[in-house]
Amino acid sequence: MSLEELVVKARSYRRFAEPQRLERKTLEFLVNVARRVPSAGNRQPLRYLLLHEAEACARMFPYLRWAGALKDWGGPKEGERPAAYIIVLTDTDVSREAECDAGIAAQTIQLAAAERGFGMCMLGAIERPKIQAEFKVPERYQIVLVLALGVPAEKIVLEEAPASGDVTYYRDAHDVHHVPKRMLKDIVLGD
Ligand SMILES: Cc1cc2nc3c(=O)[nH]c(=O)nc-3n(C[C@H](O)[C@H](O)[C@H](O)COP(=O)(O)O)c2cc1C
Repeated sequence: MSLEELVVKARSYRRFAEPQRLERKTLEFLVNVARRVPSAGNRQPLRYLLLHEAEACARMFPYLRWAGALKDWGGPKEGERPAAYIIVLTDTDVSREAECDAGIAAQTIQLAAAERGFGMCMLGAIERPKIQAEFKVPERYQIVLVLALGVPAEKIVLEEAPASGDVTYYRDAHDVHHVPKRMLKDIVLGD
């Protein structure tokens, strides 16, 4: 698979085959791939908490907000929820400005997961103080993102955004998730 094909495959999956669990060593593999990506000033402030047991995943789920654009969908139901999570944190003793680093790491993890047949969704709409308390994360570490992972159980297609510029994702009558992407001519500025 070319890198371009992998990027297209690595969509934001929100429905999973929940009984198909991920092992801790798979999560460690994914973080180990991301360990070597670029980092501002090479400070490497990111730290990770890995959740793979069903009990821990159940404790995480209430603090996540899913697909804000799908107004009549309350998120994945039991049986299709994530089978693992990676909490991406910044060590504030190293850096407080870790959003770019976290984005690079998250996308790298998403690509590595896709290559192995797993799906992922980055989650930024999360209840950070509650997650911090639930998992007893020391104050020194601040949560940047939560990555939800599992074996995908939904179909997602990319399509070209319409001329109106509406990039709202949606589900069709067959429950296929559609993601409009702006066209090249609309994102490259100048002649
Ligand atoms: C930084 C960031 C935060 C995100 N937070 C959420 C979130 O809280 N909940 C959610 O359902 N999706 C979240 N997403 C996923 C986006 O909604 C998704 O990337 C977008 O719909 C485009 O779909 P695609 O990733 O398949 O291209 C987030 C994505 C990014 C990059």
